[in-house]
Amino acid sequence: MGHHPVEDHNPSNNPHIAEMLGHRTTRRGFIAGGASTTGAVATLALVGCGDDNGSGGTLGFDAVPKSLEDRVTLPAGYSAAVLYAMGDPIAAGVAAFTNDGTQSDFDKRAGDQHDGMTFFGLSDDGTWDPGRADRGLLCMNHEQLDVERDGGNGLHQGTTRSPDARARAEVDNEMNAHGVSVIEVRRNGSVWEVVQDSPFNRRITGFTPMEITGPVRGSDLVKTGYSPNGTRTRGTLNNCANGYTPWGTYLTCEENWFSYFRRNDDVALRSDADNANLARYGIGPDSTGFSYRSWDTVPGDSVYTRFDITETVAGNAFANETNTFGWIVEINPFDPGSTPNKRTALGRFGHEGAWAAPAIAGEPVVLYMGDDSRGEYIYKFVSAENWDPADATDPGAGDKYLDDGTLYVCRFNEDGTGVWVALEPGSNGLDAGTTPYPFDSLAAVLVGTRLAADVVGATRMDRPEWGAVNPRNREVYMTLTNNNDSVRSLDALDGANPRTYEDENGRTGNVNGHIIRWRENGSRSAATGFRWDIFAFGASATADAGSVNISGLDDDNDFASPDGLWFDDRGLLWIQTDDSSLSDRTNNQMLVCNPGVVGDGEGIAITSTLEGQSETQGTFVGRSAADNQLRRFLVGPIGCEITGITATPDNRTLFVNIQHPGENGEGTWPNPSRDATQAGQAGVLPRSATIVITRDDGGEIAF
Ligand code: FEO
Ligand code: CA
Ligand code: CA
Ligand code: CA
Repeated sequence: MGHHPVEDHNPSNNPHIAEMLGHRTTRRGFIAGGASTTGAVATLALVGCGDDNGSGGTLGFDAVPKSLEDRVTLPAGYSAAVLYAMGDPIAAGVAAFTNDGTQSDFDKRAGDQHDGMTFFGLSDDGTWDPGRADRGLLCMNHEQLDVERDGGNGLHQGTTRSPDARARAEVDNEMNAHGVSVIEVRRNGSVWEVVQDSPFNRRITGFTPMEITGPVRGSDLVKTGYSPNGTRTRGTLNNCANGYTPWGTYLTCEENWFSYFRRNDDVALRSDADNANLARYGIGPDSTGFSYRSWDTVPGDSVYTRFDITETVAGNAFANETNTFGWIVEINPFDPGSTPNKRTALGRFGHEGAWAAPAIAGEPVVLYMGDDSRGEYIYKFVSAENWDPADATDPGAGDKYLDDGTLYVCRFNEDGTGVWVALEPGSNGLDAGTTPYPFDSLAAVLVGTRLAADVVGATRMDRPEWGAVNPRNREVYMTLTNNNDSVRSLDALDGANPRTYEDENGRTGNVNGHIIRWRENGSRSAATGFRWDIFAFGASATADAGSVNISGLDDDNDFASPDGLWFDDRGLLWIQTDDSSLSDRTNNQMLVCNPGVVGDGEGIAITSTLEGQSETQGTFVGRSAADNQLRRFLVGPIGCEITGITATPDNRTLFVNIQHPGENGEGTWPNPSRDATQAGQAGVLPRSATIVITRDDGGEIAF
């Protein structure tokens, strides 16, 4: 189940981004009259940080055609090898993966469903070397399980969906197949390999003990039978996208964590505040989530039974267990014995990822984050301490920068401006007397981040997935993957919003997704105001019913449902898809472009196939795809999602994750030959895998 069901637990009437766009479209006079957009950019160019041009260089490859083949396709002159597939051993003496469900040591093997990923160069003395390009620690997430297949799966020979008592050995494999891998990788000549017996290799799983740090540490809200003083918890789950810090640590992000738990009807035994907060995170009474696998039915050990949080008359010591999930987790990959830290100052929600702006001496450390559920919000964290470059070599610097700061939520205005609203008790309506959930402490605000953001009027978005910060000008991009259900409040629009068309099933919404971007005032990442536009809209290049091709996509670059997003250090923007609306024409794909700057759109003609209208829109839409050199670089095998990307610092090796290939029962990639461009072999169970992409002439990727 790579495509998790889309959740919507936001009952607020806060404005939706569709309304902002609609009003911006229909008030073109205001936009045009306020030449302020381009004016602001011109001004910023004078005061901005160095190179204001977002462009990274001229692309040097021919676009890859769309593909339905069961293999990875790449531009001519490129190769891709499978580096690290689900089940691969990462400790000395562990046998090769048999992929038949007979092995039981997934704490020493690659987990399932590879997702967000970062390469950290590794020096000869075992520390972070940001310049090292032939040896590194590759850190990656294993989002969830892809094991619902007839005839067993690679994890074990039972079913994962039994409602009955689960066998402990099977649950152990499932919990161990989640979490994070830290693996040492090396280049020998032109061949990359995992160092199987490296002392740095480590799996962090659903079992791993973790510290709860920051304002929530010690709060009653996170006290459990495991940690009566509320300072620890066990495991991280559903780790989707990622991030890394300026001091060389890895950030993993807990997305659909709520879906692993059971809660029977215990409303009468919980406080109104507790009930409201649980519901806001999708944990209503009498519920199990879509990743619930009856782990709680393994008896006798709270590491399993905690997955039933039902409050009881006698008291359930783990009634608060879900409050210990939903956080950003910081991991020091260079110390395999280190305890991961759940950094509560960064808020609690369906964390897709956490993307740091490039650190500047004397300025706060800033991280951008999205809550990937329908109608949820965009956030940023601004540290209390200003960045000291001397801390770049201190893997413990997270205690200084990530435990104390301000969490903001984003409000987009229809005039193209926006503001960041602080989530702090006692301000912006977050009062101790608020019912049913009192915001009587910073810990309460952070555990109930979604409720707090509702109160301050944050803008509802179409499922924020990945973000990325342009290293050349600090502009921020974020994918809004799609919203294939009706958006409340659309009746208020007059039909001119290019995104709010109906599809053939009568659904309205943002079916193909788009990428929003903004520039903080003064190009200062810690600023509380910004200007925004829509960088690109997903669409089919052919005239599908209801498809509105606003960004001028063509056969070389049409895409839908953007999800993964990443800037390389040259300023090229990479886009990865998790799509179904183009799936009859292509498997999921990865594109690359030169993104330009906020406000660079010249005005693009929009023809709505429903309305039959054509008109030129203002600068709230970025340049055309052609001007951005948007180009398809890779297409994945059948059934996969492309997610997770990182590179060596010389930009000559690109690592990409192929998640849940063969998801719907077709497809058998990867081929046992480990050539990622070869089709899968019949009879072989597919496996999620990291592939390593190089140019045959050894040159820089994409140039
Ligand atoms: Fe796990 Fe939001 O994708
Ligand atoms: Ca996924
Ligand atoms: Ca994702
Ligand atoms: Ca997705």
